[in-house]
Amino acid sequence: MDRRDFLKSTLAVSGVMLLGGANVALAAPEETQSRQADEVPPLPWGYEELDPEYVRKLGHLGYYAFACSGGAFWAIMTALREKIGYPYTLLPLPSIEEVKTAVAEKKSLMVPMLYGEGGVGGFASLCGAPNGACSAINYAVEKEVVLDVSRKLLRWYEKTPFPSEISNEYAVNHQFLVPKYKSDKSLPQSVANSVLCHVSVSRWCVASGYASGSSERSERCGRLTGDVAAMAVSFLNAQLNGKLDEVASLSLTQSTTECRTCHEKGTDYEEGDFTRGYMECESCHTDMRPHIAENKIRTAFGVDVETWAGAAAVGTVAGIGSHLVANKVRNKENGATEEGQEDS
Ligand code: HEC
Ligand code: HEC
Repeated sequence: MDRRDFLKSTLAVSGVMLLGGANVALAAPEETQSRQADEVPPLPWGYEELDPEYVRKLGHLGYYAFACSGGAFWAIMTALREKIGYPYTLLPLPSIEEVKTAVAEKKSLMVPMLYGEGGVGGFASLCGAPNGACSAINYAVEKEVVLDVSRKLLRWYEKTPFPSEISNEYAVNHQFLVPKYKSDKSLPQSVANSVLCHVSVSRWCVASGYASGSSERSERCGRLTGDVAAMAVSFLNAQLNGKLDEVASLSLTQSTTECRTCHEKGTDYEEGDFTRGYMECESCHTDMRPHIAENKIRTAFGVDVETWAGAAAVGTVAGIGSHLVANKVRNKENGATEEGQEDS
């Protein structure tokens, strides 16, 4: 539904409101007269194609004011508000000018999603940039698309070198919107292989030699915030044009694909359905000894418990895995549902 549709549907109500003289300014000025003050339409609020480069710059500026999560959210929502207007005008978002002033004067401003900073209040769990971006996506599109795009954005995050070349260029050439840079150097890149703030920041610090409290690390996360917000709208643009599958796919790592033949969200506990997820398993589970310990795998496939040899064990697991893939694929073709479409 676009703005005109919203306006049409609210015309009748607004007449009554004007007679009552009780109109309250919640929305953009030119629209205020035509709408009931407390009318918040149900989600989704709709999406129109956005310019990823504009959103990248807003994300970087947003980071300076609200950090990663609030910054990514503010960037996408600000672009949507400019493009679509109502109902995005209902959100409590400071304007670009207000944000620039606050950054210049080091004043504190609030936006939704800012709790996600540093993986939720600095706890370093889920990186705030995808957290904020996915929250923005949540307003714009249907539920299935929200879950699909969010999942693909996280997977893209895992394997992408940050900060992007283009963000480095913007910083070096002073093309971002911030009044004063934390650093305008071209910063080293690293791939997190994880969606965790903890891993993402730690790997970058080790790769670059900068401390976690350095202004370079902060700048890196600012550029990353722009990069993630930009990719989120690129995915939404592709989705709008029916091209999401061309632009983004889950393309899980080989290990994750193998592990998930047994370990996924499912009902066969014995087989390994006591976990869930699409993350890169190997970023945390490097010790595969459990699979050659005294357990069902060993009994079923005869791996020697006493002689631990990493390669052999993982190889065995992979072998077993590919054997089971065939069964799994057949099950899926028989109508089993994909994760995300069932109870979460
Ligand atoms: C062929 C099926 C299969 C594959 C493939 C598989 N697992 Fe397992 N895994 C199991 C089963 C079954 C258990 C439970 C063993 C038991 O407790 O007896 C298990 C146990 C585990 C455990 C718990 C071990 C413990 O200490 O209890 C972890 C962690 C694990 N798997 C991780 C992985 C990862 C990571 C991968 C991919 C690299 C993987 N598994 C691949 C079937 C599999
Ligand atoms: C961010 C780190 C991380 C990632 C990524 C990760 N895991 Fe885990 N996983 C853990 C931790 C920590 C536990 C809890 C281990 C424990 O209690 O001993 C766990 C538990 C498990 C268990 C149950 C272990 C048990 O004791 O029975 C399985 C099976 C498992 N993970 C498989 C996977 C698979 C498959 C993937 C990839 C799809 C994956 N994990 C990705 C950290 C991770």
